[in-house]
Amino acid sequence: MDIKGKLLITGVSGLLGNNLAYYLKDKYEVLGLYNSHPVDIEGIYTEKCELSYGDNIKRIISDYSPQIIIHCASLADIDGCEEDRDATKKINVLATNDMVEGVMNKDVKLIYISTDAVYSGIEGNFSEDDNNIHPQNYYGATKYDGELEILKKENSLILRTNLFGWNIQDKKSLGEWILGELKAKRRINGFNDAYFSSIYTMELARVIHISIMRNLTGVYNCGALDSCSKYEFCLKIADCFGLDKTLITPISISDFNFKVKRGKNLTLNVDKLQKALDYRLPTIDHSIEAFYRDYKCGLAEEIKKDQGGGQGKSVNIPYGRHWIGVDDIQSVVKVLRSERITQGPKVEEFEHALAEYCGAKFAVAVNSGTSALHIACVASTVEEGDEVITSPITFVASANCAVYCGAKPVFGDIDPKTFNIEPKEIQEKITEQTKAVIPVHFAGQSCDLESIQGIVKRREEEFNSRIFIIEDASHALGSIYKNKRIGSSIYSDMTAMSFHPVKHITTAEGGVIFTNDEGLHEKLKIARSHGITSDPGEFVFRDLAFQPLADSYEPLVNPWYYEQVDLGYNYRITDIQCALGISQLKKLEKFRKRRREIVNRYNEAFGSIESIQVPFESRDCDSNFHLYVLLIDFEKIGIPRAQFMNELRERGLQTQVHYIPVHTQPYFQNRFGTKWGDCPNAEEYYQKCLSIPLFPAMTESDVERIINEITQLVRGR
Ligand SMILES: Cc1ncc(COP(=O)(O)O)c(C=O)c1O
Repeated sequence: MDIKGKLLITGVSGLLGNNLAYYLKDKYEVLGLYNSHPVDIEGIYTEKCELSYGDNIKRIISDYSPQIIIHCASLADIDGCEEDRDATKKINVLATNDMVEGVMNKDVKLIYISTDAVYSGIEGNFSEDDNNIHPQNYYGATKYDGELEILKKENSLILRTNLFGWNIQDKKSLGEWILGELKAKRRINGFNDAYFSSIYTMELARVIHISIMRNLTGVYNCGALDSCSKYEFCLKIADCFGLDKTLITPISISDFNFKVKRGKNLTLNVDKLQKALDYRLPTIDHSIEAFYRDYKCGLAEEIKKDQGGGQGKSVNIPYGRHWIGVDDIQSVVKVLRSERITQGPKVEEFEHALAEYCGAKFAVAVNSGTSALHIACVASTVEEGDEVITSPITFVASANCAVYCGAKPVFGDIDPKTFNIEPKEIQEKITEQTKAVIPVHFAGQSCDLESIQGIVKRREEEFNSRIFIIEDASHALGSIYKNKRIGSSIYSDMTAMSFHPVKHITTAEGGVIFTNDEGLHEKLKIARSHGITSDPGEFVFRDLAFQPLADSYEPLVNPWYYEQVDLGYNYRITDIQCALGISQLKKLEKFRKRRREIVNRYNEAFGSIESIQVPFESRDCDSNFHLYVLLIDFEKIGIPRAQFMNELRERGLQTQVHYIPVHTQPYFQNRFGTKWGDCPNAEEYYQKCLSIPLFPAMTESDVERIINEITQLVRGR
């Protein structure tokens, strides 16, 4: 098999980043990182990463283990950099420092794309000599500081450049801008006294590739072999593309009122690089010809069509979203290339990892949270004539699982603080018909399990019956109740979870049931797979199952033999999904931590607003915060909830209502006679609740945007 080296490119949505990805994607396995502009280039992995935040870049380096990093990401708008010095320093210097720390003591080749703006821009023909370093603006200064960070890592390569090319995004490089204006027959000005040595991105990509192969280290200028003024550059482009040169007017850079100072002569002396690589760099004419050739052969169009895509394609922020990294994708691809894509080793591996994480003896992985709940009811022998108590503030599956078994769902009202079922409601609603209680850990906040277990035990004794407790922990992977992880099933018979994409980890669709009871474990496995067993110890028809052998031998099982011992289902999960789950589970603690940070910021921002109530946190529970539900007094703020949600949607924010009380759904009203008024706390909660976006891939700016938009709306602006 062709094993390619792993290359990480930062700034893959930028001009050089995406052109490099195109150029190098057949030569390396490429992971490209972007911040706000999603990119989807066939043949490479892309991932959203806010470089300047926390240990994002270190995490990606450790997850992906690249052999080479090309660090293209930077804030490069000269005026913008001056205006927002903090952000510029964060990206251009501090994020570079994080990257260097992430690769220290690792065998990683670091290539840093620097700029001609580190030079004074007076004399021109700059060599790499330190005496020439006199950045004229904050952009140049921070890029030079970035270089100093990079030099802390041995064998790094720094390339100071100026480039033009075909951009993936709407924003245009100089070459594209000239073309656009001239094609539209608009007049343009070109500085006849500002010089540079701009190189076409694909030519630069070639030089970078050669530099990697030769393991070049040090600091080099990497531009065109010669130079020209920006006015001449406009003429050359017009010439090459057959456009009207008379539209171009020469002017002096001094006539242009730039807010921020720029170097006048930034021409580069590229002798050092040519010598080190024994390679002749292209002249500006050659670069423009290559730029034209790529246009003619459709590369420019191909690059542009890849705009957008990736995770988080739109600028809209959903209320919840999965976070799939390149390591997850690779785990899945590995299984796709293997012998077994279902019923293979990954299922058990996932089950073991989950059981170990949650602290339960057994885990049975299935194809959804709903099937997990269903077979938990089956294993509890829930059947016609039985009652099953659950919460009305949940997804319908928590009640449907009882109905699948022919039982009647009974709804116990919620505690208005935690939004979870009140133990006293369970106490009141348990009857001799009750076969199971399904407490739902809503939004990750755990139920009062100790009280629920106490009540159920007392009622079991009173009725001399068996009442199962099945936790619906679809929201609660990673939550901790009384110092034990939810899933440990210490206070229950079984715990069901879901791995739907909005949940803490995902397998696309998927679920699991935890138990500490061996008998239940066996029943769950059989129910998951058609009611069939292949365990010789379980076989009923032993004469059909075993080969008749001489007495001295152990009986041999007939190799084809299996038995259906009960009615079961095909609720199996695939190895492809489990590979994803295993990989995701490794990141759960990071996801949890990130959610917590966002929650802290939300609490701080919304906690003091009068018409808003932030989520309550019980002292017994360290919630994983699956959802962040605000209670908003829509009457008081004078905006109906639907309008509030629509206005937020127009501002690019998706919110959701979790949930419409299940007992008010027409199916339950019609079939079981439930009605509005049955659970007043749940119904009152429903009038005010609103889940706002919360998922670990949210960036700081996403969080601040959400806070601003919601606060403005609540305050009537
Ligand atoms: C509380 C609750 N229970 C059960 C389920 C069902 O899980 P799944 O969608 O994986 O079938 C969900 C899913 O949203 C849920 O939120």
